[in-house]
Amino acid sequence: MDAAPVLISDLMEKVTNLAKRRGFFFQTAEIYGGFRSTYDYGPLGANMLRNVRAAWWKAMVQSRSDIVGIDAAILGPAAIWAASGHLETFTDPLVDCLKCKERWREDKIDGVCPNCGSTEFTEPRAFNLMFKTQAGPVEGEGATAYLRPETAQGMFTNFNNVLATTRKKPPFGIAQIGKSFRNEITPQNSIFRTREFEQMEMEYFVPPAEADQWYRYWVNARLSWFLDLGVPAELLRLHEHAPEDLSHYSKGTTDVEFYFPWGWDELEGIANRGDYDLTQHSKHSGARLEYFDQASNERYTPYVIEPALGVTRALMVFLLAAYHEDEIDGETRTVLRLDWRLAPYQVAVLPLSKKPELEGVSEEVLALLQRDFMCDYDVTQSIGRRYRRQDEIGTPYCVTVDFTSLEDRCVTVRDRDTTAQSRVPIAELARHLHERTTLNH
Ligand code: GAP
Repeated sequence: MDAAPVLISDLMEKVTNLAKRRGFFFQTAEIYGGFRSTYDYGPLGANMLRNVRAAWWKAMVQSRSDIVGIDAAILGPAAIWAASGHLETFTDPLVDCLKCKERWREDKIDGVCPNCGSTEFTEPRAFNLMFKTQAGPVEGEGATAYLRPETAQGMFTNFNNVLATTRKKPPFGIAQIGKSFRNEITPQNSIFRTREFEQMEMEYFVPPAEADQWYRYWVNARLSWFLDLGVPAELLRLHEHAPEDLSHYSKGTTDVEFYFPWGWDELEGIANRGDYDLTQHSKHSGARLEYFDQASNERYTPYVIEPALGVTRALMVFLLAAYHEDEIDGETRTVLRLDWRLAPYQVAVLPLSKKPELEGVSEEVLALLQRDFMCDYDVTQSIGRRYRRQDEIGTPYCVTVDFTSLEDRCVTVRDRDTTAQSRVPIAELARHLHERTTLNH
């Protein structure tokens, strides 16, 4: 077996501290003592979440003619979840420690209470992970609604709508990004597993005979997506589930796993869902969720290949993979080597001094770059300190405006990774940065 990758010591603590200190994410309701396992994303986190979603949407929807996107409701009637199997089987085994009374997910604790070390528990009970609520002012059966525990069902329930409005034919996919909710028994590891989270899922509908081939295709395509965005290959691996570990709907599942500070764990799942979902929704709703192939005069229920990833989990992985400490001029620096597509800011505009003479041209440069790039603007502290602050949040380029800029209309562009600096005319600045970023992708 390959040796486990070596991570920076205390990586998890360093990244979560950085996330809080610089404004990637905070605990929800912190001023009220916090709300367990729920996070709010700050100015940097909100930018980065948008970038993670955009990178996924570009790869999965924009650059393909066989996949379209939708945006379905979070609230839904019980009927959806009866058909999908979630009402009955979307459960985790819940046990209570007989000594300290803490509640745990039985399959996560190896028979020993992580709180008090006791090995005595109640019998496991099936605990449904869905958040149940009520729609409208009347209580009772018909008013029961659920917050979706995955975005996937919106793609199945809209199968006919999408077919009719887009005239796609298998193999084709429906993609969606949005919030999902699970009442996890033991949420853990910062934003890795939370009760409210966001997913990016794509349901790829294929002729049954092609299912296995597309399953392999999507496993490789999804692994490549992470590599392309700079996650090192040695921190990623594929793990195929044993038949007895498969979810109720799955004919085969492979996880893209990441080497987290606590070991290998799931980052994304790619499943062959067979015809389970369309068949179930056809049965329960009475609608015919099939494809009629005019060429062969055949009607069939497509199989579904599904890559499913958490936006927030991906954000955490990109932060963990990007975190580095190196030495510049004898000084240790923290640098997030984030791909420019993911970095909260692509450019920081830094006037060398606070003197009013530099204000006009600095604001001119900022306005010029803001048309194309997400920019930070920072006039506080020494230029060296400001470079470090930008390195720490992963800004790929700093643009420094100095007194010579007033005469030669040039600025200094500094590269985060090499710290190399070059002098660039303001008139060519946007093109210069485009060549290093967008034009390469
Ligand atoms: N539609 C299939 C599905 O939802 P899943 O393996 O339960 O499959 C897919 O979830 C992905 O969603 C996971 O690989 C993970 O990235 C993310 N995810 C699931 N539960 C999560 C949670 N409680 N917190 C954060 N991300 C979660």
